[in-house]
Amino acid sequence: MARRRRKPRKEAAPALDAPRRNLSTTWRAAGVVLLVGALLAGSWLGWRHWPSPPAPDAPATSALARFVGSAVCAGCHAPEHEAWRGSQHAQAMQEASAHAVLGDFDDASFRQGGIAHRFLRREGKFLVRTDGPDGKLGDFEIRYTFGVEPLQQYLIALPGGRLQALGIA
Ligand code: HEC
Repeated sequence: MARRRRKPRKEAAPALDAPRRNLSTTWRAAGVVLLVGALLAGSWLGWRHWPSPPAPDAPATSALARFVGSAVCAGCHAPEHEAWRGSQHAQAMQEASAHAVLGDFDDASFRQGGIAHRFLRREGKFLVRTDGPDGKLGDFEIRYTFGVEPLQQYLIALPGGRLQALGIA
């Protein structure tokens, strides 16, 4: 269709067609420049804003997914945050700190299964001396607390980044 219509026009007015073609060439060139510019701007923006995927050996906490903490949510959910803060849900899982840990870690001991488990504090850390994965006694750091009432459990750090609930609550 288009070809058939262009042909007779070319023959009828060749003098008129020449400048018109020049004009369309200029527009086409401008279009190409704009397109290339848009592509460059797009890729630059993409490079700036999209985090690159983590390297295969990168630690689990990357820019893509990480724990932000409750303070971030409080910025937009103030009433919810207030209600949550006053409830025991806020204490359901906490990092082991002097504030969170309720047990007696003043070199207390507890006999169970023929072993004297000891609860100690060293350099601000809470430790339990108990039988480890290999069955031998070792000092393990308490990393998190679970619950507040009627009892509190402890998550201890094991080699390889694993966390294990202590059998004693
Ligand atoms: C930038 C502001 C902002 C931040 C920060 C934010 N939220 Fe929200 N959240 C909203 C908005 C807006 C809604 C939609 C509320 C609606 O539709 O009524 C919402 C909805 C929710 C809902 C669904 C509520 C419902 O009734 O369906 C939950 C759950 C929620 N947010 C949890 C969180 C948590 C957890 C965090 C922190 C990790 C968080 N939000 C951080 C703005 C925010």
